[in-house]
This record gives sequence, structure tokens and C-alpha cells, in this order.
Amino acid sequence: MSQDLVNAAIAASANAYAPYSNFHVGAALLLDDGKIVSGANFENASYGMTLCAETVAIAKANSDGTLRKIVAIAVAGGPAGQVAANDEAITPCGRCRQIIKEVADLTERDIPVHCAHANGYDTYLLSELLPHGFGPANLK
Ligand code: THU
Repeated sequence: MSQDLVNAAIAASANAYAPYSNFHVGAALLLDDGKIVSGANFENASYGMTLCAETVAIAKANSDGTLRKIVAIAVAGGPAGQVAANDEAITPCGRCRQIIKEVADLTERDIPVHCAHANGYDTYLLSELLPHGFGPANLK
């Protein structure tokens, strides 16, 4: 159930390393066998080198050999282990949308991204978040 994936993303935000922004983000990937892979943002004193939660989770799935099994993603941000008290959903940043596109193209799935907010979550397809994106097909 999508709420379970959102809950896993909220829980993952407890492991964020975010001493600079103090904005703790968690991401959770649902695999086709029901397993969940999670990630959290990993900030750096050289601010621009920060890794977002979605990117960390997807790189984790890649190194686990489960990249092709990803069927859905959830993201949540705010205080560690909690959702922000904001009615507006946290949606993936531009770089993360591009990274999710690689998974969508690889798997031929228009990945749903469940984005948490104070009152629940909104779901967007990757094609809605990144229309007309650059992908592997452009390299042919
Ligand atoms: N962040 C994410 O982890 N994912 C997003 O989609 C948006 C932003 C992180 C980066 C940084 O550590 C903090 O949130 C504030 O921008």
C-alpha cells in the first residue's frame, strides 16, 4: 500500500545527515518483490556536493543489483522522522527527477512518486514531474 511506502520514507528521514539545512529528507523505493529500499539526504560542508535522499536510495538499489526492480518511490521531508507541517508536498528536485527518469526508462515504467505533506501525500507520475526529459533514447 502506498501509505506504507510513504511511512518508510518518513522513517528514513530520521537517518538524514542534514546539519546545514536542518531539512531531513527520506526516500523509499518499492521493489517488484515488495521489498523497500530507503535513503536519506547526505549533506556536505561544500554545500553543492549534497546528495538528495532519492539519489541515495536509487544508488543503493543500484549497488544492491535491484535497480530494475523499482516500481514506485516515496519522498518525505521535514524534521527528522517526521513530515513537515506544510500542506505543500515535497517533490523531487530537478536532478533527482533526471535520476528517476533513468530508472523509468530502464524499467519501461512510468514510476509513481508519492510526495508527502502534512495531510497525507500526493502522487505524480515521473512523466508529470519531468515532461520532455532527456533520456537514453536521445543518445541513439
Ligand atoms: N533534498 C532532498 O534530499 N531531496 C529533494 O528532492 C529535495 C531536497 C535535500 C537536499 C538538502 O539536503 C535539503 O533537502 C535541503 O535542500
